[in-house]
Amino acid sequence: MKKLHLLGWPAVGMRKLGILMAGLFVALAASTALAEDVELDAPELACLKCHDKDGLKMKTDKGENLPLSVSTKAFAESMHNTTSCEDCHDDLDAKTHGKVPSSVESKREFSLKMNATCVSCHKKVVAKFDETVHAKMIKGGSEKAANCSDCHNSHTVKSVKLLTPIDQVPCARCHEEVFKAYSKDVHGLERVANGKKAPLCADCHSSHSITAASLGDSVKETCIQCHKDSAGSHEKWLPNAARHFQAVSCPVCHAPDAQRRVNLRLVDKVDGKQIMEKSGVPQFERMVKAADGVQPGLDEKELKNFLKEFKLENEGSKVILNGRLEVRSGVQAHQLSVKDEAIKDCRVCHKAGATPFQTVVLTVAGPDGRPIRHSVEKEVLGSLTAIGSMQGFYAIGSTRIKWLDYLLVLVLAGVVCVPIAHLTANRLFKNKRDQLRAAQSKDPS
Ligand code: HEC
Ligand code: HEC
Ligand code: HEC
Ligand code: HEC
Ligand code: HEC
Ligand code: HEC
Ligand code: HEC
Ligand code: HEC
Ligand code: HEC
Repeated sequence: MKKLHLLGWPAVGMRKLGILMAGLFVALAASTALAEDVELDAPELACLKCHDKDGLKMKTDKGENLPLSVSTKAFAESMHNTTSCEDCHDDLDAKTHGKVPSSVESKREFSLKMNATCVSCHKKVVAKFDETVHAKMIKGGSEKAANCSDCHNSHTVKSVKLLTPIDQVPCARCHEEVFKAYSKDVHGLERVANGKKAPLCADCHSSHSITAASLGDSVKETCIQCHKDSAGSHEKWLPNAARHFQAVSCPVCHAPDAQRRVNLRLVDKVDGKQIMEKSGVPQFERMVKAADGVQPGLDEKELKNFLKEFKLENEGSKVILNGRLEVRSGVQAHQLSVKDEAIKDCRVCHKAGATPFQTVVLTVAGPDGRPIRHSVEKEVLGSLTAIGSMQGFYAIGSTRIKWLDYLLVLVLAGVVCVPIAHLTANRLFKNKRDQLRAAQSKDPS
């Protein structure tokens, strides 16, 4: 008989009862997904005899406290309960361990060393993980980016098939502000109310293929995977919805209180991919600073010079700018609201001086994919450089390229003028018709 183990969860108040109820339901439904309660073998029990003690800890060489207690109960209930301690801890000296003080350089160093053991049993996951933004940051020396054990506790890990209560999602610890925003937005609330249908962090960002959020279109594509008919439904009121989906990130309209800006991304003209800096060769910041004169932000001439230099230094590459409207912070990207509050008014973007176009940044993807930005003067958007290198990123009405406004007039005219044309035609021909009718009624035949 398999048992249910909800005991590992923290005590809950009334407010969180909803989360617990949702979790309980899924736990009941998925009780087969729980690890079987096993009798641990003698070697494990021997380790635990010393280590299942509250407050057991040691000092690292750096002076940090390294907690050493491992709960027998939690381990017996974990997915690793058939794995022996020594499968992962294979470098302990049985003769001296626990009797002679050992040395651990730092918590991070210990953690990195221990995470190197996962590969022997989870090869595929490790291979995928190596391409993530977190893994690239770790390779670059980051002390803070997430490693396996930052998201999974090897001694207590439960089946991923269970519903994770949102306040226990591993990402929350490090991305606290984003988590707070998410938990109050349309998906966070829906997740608590109705469970797994609504996305948790990893459903939009993935768990082991996490890349920088603004790199490529992967996040947008996951939105569309769940909201399958969204392309069609926007088409009903938004002209060329596909172009809007390319040039406007979803949160720009769906986080109604967010601040917006134009992001000019450096892309390769040939494959359309964002230009990524090579690790160890910081190029963008140096060049952009060199190009920028006194005032903060590149003006038209400076931008032109920068692009020219950049092309020269990256021989053969054809660099162009790809414009996109986006929200100004990661927190704002997680303040999605119900559809009735979404931006529908064309004038938010399509009018002279529209606020989203008052802030402009130029971006290159850093070696780990995260954006490196530099500010640009907003006037650049209406300039000739823009026309040349942005392949016509403009939002009609909002820039100085006046002739483009006529395009909007024409498009709107296409919609609005049809009924007007009917009315005008009716009026023009009314007199003629009346005369005809009068003539007909007089006609004796
Ligand atoms: C006799 C008690 C005892 C037993 C049995 C024992 N440990 Fe320990 N363990 C300790 C003590 C005490 C420390 C802290 C050593 C120090 O202060 O330097 C420790 C430290 C550790 C550490 C962290 C530092 C390091 O040396 O890497 C790990 C990991 C560890 N033990 C795992 C195990 C495992 C796995 C087993 C079973 C194979 C085990 N222990 C058996 C007492 C014990
Ligand atoms: C699936 C692999 C795995 C198994 C099995 C495992 N451990 Fe660990 N253990 C780890 C990892 C990974 C860490 C480092 C966690 C971190 O990043 O700080 C660790 C850390 C520890 C520590 C240091 C303190 C801590 O909790 O971070 C102790 C003590 C320890 N393990 C004891 C044990 C004992 C005793 C057993 C068997 C009952 C065991 N481990 C089974 C992977 C494992
Ligand atoms: C940033 C957090 C994070 C990191 C880092 C991470 N994982 Fe995961 N992992 C998750 C989440 C979330 C899930 C739940 C499943 C899902 O939503 O895809 C998961 C699921 C799993 C699973 C079960 C499902 C599967 O894909 O096989 C395994 C095994 C696993 N992780 C191992 C690892 C190992 C090994 C590493 C290090 C190489 C690692 N994880 C690094 C978050 C993380
Ligand atoms: C000696 C082999 C072994 C090692 C080493 C190992 N694991 Fe596992 N792991 C397992 C087994 C066996 C399971 C249960 C898998 C199953 O039934 O799918 C498991 C399950 C998991 C799960 C839950 C998967 C699920 O489907 O819910 C996660 C997460 C996980 N391991 C993470 C890690 C991490 C992180 C490390 C490295 C610190 C690690 N494992 C090292 C053998 C291992
Ligand atoms: C141990 C801490 C830690 C955990 C846990 C963690 N992250 Fe991160 N993550 C970081 C750090 C540090 C950065 C780099 C700083 C930043 O950009 O916010 C980062 C960066 C990122 C980025 C790239 C940011 C960008 O500019 O696009 C994404 C996306 C991300 N994390 C998603 C997640 C998700 C999703 C989870 C959970 C599945 C998670 N992280 C768990 C520490 C963590
Ligand atoms: C130009 C602003 C704008 C952009 C860009 C935009 N939306 Fe919308 N969206 C709206 C508005 C306004 C509504 C409400 C329409 C209505 O009145 O029914 C809406 C409705 C929705 C709905 C509710 C159901 C439906 O299909 O009508 C979903 C889901 C949705 N959008 C998802 C997305 C996704 C995913 C993206 C990015 C790929 C996106 N939206 C981009 C403005 C926008
Ligand atoms: C509904 C899908 C969705 C969910 C759920 C989601 N995110 Fe995001 N996330 C996004 C989008 C969209 C962006 C902005 C991408 C862009 O710039 O186009 C983003 C951006 C980010 C960034 C980069 C922030 C920055 O500074 O630029 C981080 C980090 C991040 N998310 C972490 C998380 C974490 C942690 C969670 C869970 C608490 C989470 N996300 C949940 C869609 C999601
Ligand atoms: C895992 C599936 C999933 C993903 C991925 C996802 N959503 Fe949702 N979304 C939902 C569910 C479920 C709801 C709540 C039920 C509903 O209204 O459809 C919802 C609701 C919404 C709503 C409110 C709709 C309304 O009727 O008021 C908007 C807007 C929305 N999502 C936009 C997005 C955007 C933008 C993204 C990507 C950044 C995204 N969603 C990613 C599942 C998802
Ligand atoms: C959140 C800002 C925003 C909103 C709201 C918005 N647009 Fe746009 N629109 C843009 C951007 C950005 C472009 C892309 C310009 C480009 O192609 O470079 C665009 C492009 C267009 C185009 C040219 C499409 C093409 O085929 O190239 C038309 C027409 C248009 N919008 C009409 C509208 C109408 C009508 C509305 C209201 C129903 C609207 N837009 C709402 C930002 C917006």
